[in-house]
Amino acid sequence: MIEFILFSRKGRTDGNFRNLREAGRLDVVYQCLLTAFFTSGAIRRDVVFHAILNGPPHPPVHLVFDGRKLRDVRTDEKTWEDILRKVLSGGAHQGIELHKESFQEVIRTKRNLFILEENGEDINNVNLGENPVFVLGDQVGLPIKDEKFALRFGTKISIGKKPYLAMSCIDIVNYILDSRLKRE
Ligand SMILES: C[S@@+](CC[C@H](N)C(=O)[O-])C[C@H]1O[C@@H](n2cnc3c(N)ncnc32)[C@H](O)[C@@H]1O
Repeated sequence: MIEFILFSRKGRTDGNFRNLREAGRLDVVYQCLLTAFFTSGAIRRDVVFHAILNGPPHPPVHLVFDGRKLRDVRTDEKTWEDILRKVLSGGAHQGIELHKESFQEVIRTKRNLFILEENGEDINNVNLGENPVFVLGDQVGLPIKDEKFALRFGTKISIGKKPYLAMSCIDIVNYILDSRLKRE
């Protein structure tokens, strides 16, 4: 499996919002879901995506999206707005779980961890091994204390000197893994 962990500083932790952007930038979570799971016409079943939401009213919330089990999803924003609102209101959706866990609690359970950042080691020179787990910040980036914590368990890697959108980083990493591994 390939895992992505997104740290969302302000992502809202209940379903009481009008749209994703105003919900502490849950639109960034939506964008990352697109590039984590969707190729043209198929879902990447070998991906697990985690979003750790730290916004009001009940932080932290850990959402887990498991590509092996995800059903009834499409690429449009309205579909995901409805799904996120339902799950954050206590409802169920196949392939999605909600846990009351912090970023650091999740990180300490992981092995083979890579923290994505512009000034890390060039990904082209890094052996990603089996079942790699990639950590990303949101539109602001990872808070320093959480980055330091994650670096106790993994290493910093870079896909280039330009700061890319979090969603683009996931797309690029998926692309690199497509060419390195024999993925379905
Ligand atoms: C929109 S960027 C955040 C930009 C923010 N100014 C910063 O410095 O972190 C979102 C996340 O994408 C990842 N990222 C962006 N560009 C990257 C790059 N060139 N290499 C590796 N990761 C990158 C980082 O994890 C970053 O926290």
